[in-house]
Amino acid sequence: MATRKPLISGNWKMNLNHFEAIQTVQKLHYLLPKDIFEQVDVTVHVPFTDIRSVQTLIDSEELDLILGAQHCHWQDSGAFTGEVSPAFLEKLNVKYVVAGHSERREIFGETDEMVNKKVAAIQQHNMVPIVCCGETLEERELGETESKVLGQIEAALAGRSNEQVAALVVAYEPIWAIGTGKTATAEDAQLVCHAIRQKLRVMTDDATAGAVRIQYGGSVKAVNAAELMGQADIDGALVGGASLDPDEFARLVQFSAPNSV
Ligand code: PGA
Repeated sequence: MATRKPLISGNWKMNLNHFEAIQTVQKLHYLLPKDIFEQVDVTVHVPFTDIRSVQTLIDSEELDLILGAQHCHWQDSGAFTGEVSPAFLEKLNVKYVVAGHSERREIFGETDEMVNKKVAAIQQHNMVPIVCCGETLEERELGETESKVLGQIEAALAGRSNEQVAALVVAYEPIWAIGTGKTATAEDAQLVCHAIRQKLRVMTDDATAGAVRIQYGGSVKAVNAAELMGQADIDGALVGGASLDPDEFARLVQFSAPNSV
């Protein structure tokens, strides 16, 4: 079986200005034991206006936390008022970029096609896309979870080589579980993450599918992290609310380490 290092990603969404970001990242790093980073990769996906400040902090103090962004455009430059280029993020040492979060899809009209272009652009700029997928409550109740989620994955990864697929991250985030306090049961989350890996196997091959890290997201907290991470096809978490509080997030990271399960 492939060994996949867990990836815990804090998605701050539109929270914490650059002053607050510096304090939060400093505190988080202080709270995490140094050797935890041998077991878990930890990314922080801060708002665009915080990136330069957090980059400077990570670089100057040689922190083990990894810098992430929440979104980007797929073009390097041009007449796209308000958008941010993946080339600019690469210059700021951003390593991971979330693509196709359900809030981007539902509130800002991002389509599967746009997500596909973004995934390609992020990889072209030597960053790792965290490709999000997930069903609404209605779709779940209609029994459409797998068709929705697997369709999103197929569309997002179309045109990627096996090597490129192996290098990216998938985040399964049931929309009804995001910010609601409702989490999929560990068994339910595992079933969908397993179906995603099977789909990746069909799209690529065994070794590639076995290398992809699949995160679960949706009301992950310190109390439910270990059970979720203990599932065979769950290799990390995309964490919203609980990542804003360094005490809670530090606990969550530690409970996600393979040794703690
Ligand atoms: P949540 O958000 O942890 O607050 O549910 C998860 C996400 O949207 O990535």
